[in-house]
Amino acid sequence: MLLTSAGGLLSFLLNLCIYSASGIDITDIQGPAYQSPYDGQIVQKISGVVTAKDRYGFWLQSSPSSDPRISNGIRVYQPRLAHSPDLEIGRVVTLDARVTEYRQDSQPNDLFVTQLVDPQNINIERTTHSVEPLVLGSLPELTPPLREYSALDKGPDGWLSVPNNVSLLESVNATLQPDKYGLDFWESLEGRLVTIPNPTTCNFPDRFGSIWVYGDWPVHGKNERGGLTLTEIEGLPDAHPGTIFIGRALDGTKNPKPPVGSVLTNITGVVTYQFGYYHILPLTAPEVISEPNSEVQSSSISPSDEPCELTIGDYNVENMSPRSHHIPKIAAHIVNYLNSPDIMFLQEIQSDSGSSDNGVVTANRTLETLVKAITAAQKSRNGQVDVESGTYAYEWVDIPPVNNQDGGKPGSNIRVAYLWNPAKVSLIPGSIRGNATEAASVVKTSGGLTLSPNPGRVNPMSSAWEETRKPMAAAWQTTNGERFFTINVHMSSKRDSSSAHGNARPPVNGHIERRTHQAEVLADFVESILAHDVNASIILSGDMNDFTQTHSLFSSIRSLLTDINESSDIPPVERYTYVYDQHMQEIDQMFVSDAVVRRGTEVEHVHVNTWAKSIGDRASDHDPTVARVRVCDRGEANRALDDIRSPFVVQDSLGMQGY
Ligand SMILES: *[C@@H]1O[C@H](CO)[C@@H](O)[C@H](O)[C@H]1NC(C)=O
Ligand SMILES: *[C@@H]1O[C@H](CO)[C@@H](O)[C@H](O)[C@H]1NC(C)=O
Ligand SMILES: *[C@@H]1O[C@H](CO)[C@@H](O)[C@H](O)[C@H]1NC(C)=O
Ligand SMILES: *[C@@H]1O[C@H](CO)[C@@H](O)[C@H](O)[C@H]1NC(C)=O
Ligand SMILES: *[C@@H]1O[C@H](CO)[C@@H](O)[C@H](O)[C@H]1NC(C)=O
Ligand SMILES: *[C@@H]1O[C@H](CO)[C@@H](O)[C@H](O)[C@H]1NC(C)=O
Ligand SMILES: *[C@@H]1O[C@H](CO)[C@@H](O)[C@H](O)[C@H]1NC(C)=O
Repeated sequence: MLLTSAGGLLSFLLNLCIYSASGIDITDIQGPAYQSPYDGQIVQKISGVVTAKDRYGFWLQSSPSSDPRISNGIRVYQPRLAHSPDLEIGRVVTLDARVTEYRQDSQPNDLFVTQLVDPQNINIERTTHSVEPLVLGSLPELTPPLREYSALDKGPDGWLSVPNNVSLLESVNATLQPDKYGLDFWESLEGRLVTIPNPTTCNFPDRFGSIWVYGDWPVHGKNERGGLTLTEIEGLPDAHPGTIFIGRALDGTKNPKPPVGSVLTNITGVVTYQFGYYHILPLTAPEVISEPNSEVQSSSISPSDEPCELTIGDYNVENMSPRSHHIPKIAAHIVNYLNSPDIMFLQEIQSDSGSSDNGVVTANRTLETLVKAITAAQKSRNGQVDVESGTYAYEWVDIPPVNNQDGGKPGSNIRVAYLWNPAKVSLIPGSIRGNATEAASVVKTSGGLTLSPNPGRVNPMSSAWEETRKPMAAAWQTTNGERFFTINVHMSSKRDSSSAHGNARPPVNGHIERRTHQAEVLADFVESILAHDVNASIILSGDMNDFTQTHSLFSSIRSLLTDINESSDIPPVERYTYVYDQHMQEIDQMFVSDAVVRRGTEVEHVHVNTWAKSIGDRASDHDPTVARVRVCDRGEANRALDDIRSPFVVQDSLGMQGY
């Protein structure tokens, strides 16, 4: 017996007297629940074959149980032993040890790993045995469930239900239901040697080189790219429980860094829990068999000459300052992939001094630099393909925030902004731009409805927007004098969310209360426009920082407006602009009023970033979106410019309704 202190020896002996168990097996230690029935006890003559080892210990596996809830593998923690040359994979080891449910003290939201610690009376046999890995997906009981993570994720939005953190997995210590719940499935495999056949990647590798994959088994939400989109099954969001995080390989080889949707060689490794997620630690790193084509097609949506028909782009340009290296890339995306939309909704425009915390709040230089880069990209595109069509400089507008009152990196003062093609639309003539604290309100003038100030922020003094960038509303006019409204939004982030594989159920969706309040403030504003004109054309778009499947958040907006994805009939699996954890997801959204829905809409998410070859190749963490909307009926009586004879009106290239 080799214990380091007298106290350790005493407690060891004490434990031995009070709770020692012999004649038991690894399956008895694992049991059918999250936590071991033997937690804290000394167990004797535990025997198993070494299946894997790392610097700190190794994994043993005994004969399997007939009960699919019970694992026959377990981790043994003992760095010294792990370095012993006798401890080869395949050796049969027998030992006495203490059973512990381990997690890092600093991570109370992690789940426990059942471990054997302080091994004693170790016997290593000379002969070797081979352990066949379980091929996941090969049998119904080895196939992960489709939709849910945990029986505790109760509520109308499944794992995205509010309130969050109603119960803790740890306290419930449920008996596992691996056929129904994903966390139960992975827990039932804890410590076992498994193979993931034909793994496909569903995110870029993280900064430690870990990769989310799913194997050759049924999954839900698979998109054309090969990633998994967060969608719904019978009205409830799928949590993609059949995906698993592949950690660092045990033999020191390095995981590859392929793009989303790549196919890897089979992965064999042990199932464990670390850093907030179930993981497989591969015996050796997989290799890439195939990568998807990274070529992205330009949107088929292009501006037209029809005054009522507008193309709207939306792009979170990720912390853009005048000195950002990604400006030319973003400009090229806007021109070559979005076809220079008539109006661009931008989010994350930083002040002219970037993230220097020096009191500068204007972003004129940032926006001018972007507009110049766009004009350069337009010239170069037209120079190559279409000399006839002119280039133009976008006009732009933003509302500088009060210094450091809108969240984000200190000094960067990120805000939303609009760019627009002045040949197609304009802010209503005579408008006066609002400041950081003035709220926009709807006013009736002889020419129709407008906003004062215009553009103006939406209820900027509401507590909903504390420490968050405020939305900016604008009233616009088409070349034939018709009016419409836009609202450019960037809701609070999901910072402080808890892991979907964590203790808190449903998991904590960081700042959901705040975003829900923000949606309500926006809905009130939309309602104030509709109260004046039920047929107002309204487009609300931006980075909502949450999924449409979080229905509770969007219910206020959806009671007034329609998600353009729905009005445009985009297949749900192709609705994504972002990839996080294992999900491709819809966190940038566009909502339109009934009048816009009635005239027909189109939308495309242009995957210039989620389809990048590597995470470093992206220009932003979000994909842009481009939509076609009609903000008036062609031929509708034109109040301001009655006898307009624009060449645009004559063309009927789109065969739209009207006359
Ligand atoms: C967890 O459940 C198992 C099996 O029902 C039980 O033996 C064990 O004592 C429980 N552990 C805790 C901490 O509740
Ligand atoms: C969940 O709630 C418990 C209290 O019931 C709290 O201790 C814990 O920190 C919360 N977890 C998270 C991730 O917020
Ligand atoms: C991957 O595993 C599956 C299932 O065991 C097997 O059929 C297939 O041949 C393996 N592929 C390779 C490349 O080894
Ligand atoms: C910045 O642009 C706004 C128009 O959007 C203009 O009113 C303002 O004078 C400009 N500020 C500077 C410092 O150029
Ligand atoms: C915004 O304008 C209002 C009304 O003109 C004024 O009272 C307020 O001080 C201004 N706020 C800021 C931040 O400049
Ligand atoms: C709104 O538009 C619909 C459809 O064009 C029309 O039937 C209705 O009369 C309009 N309502 C108002 C108040 O203008
Ligand atoms: C529509 O769906 C896509 C994909 O889910 C999502 O990313 C996007 O934000 C939505 N777009 C709009 C414009 O609503």
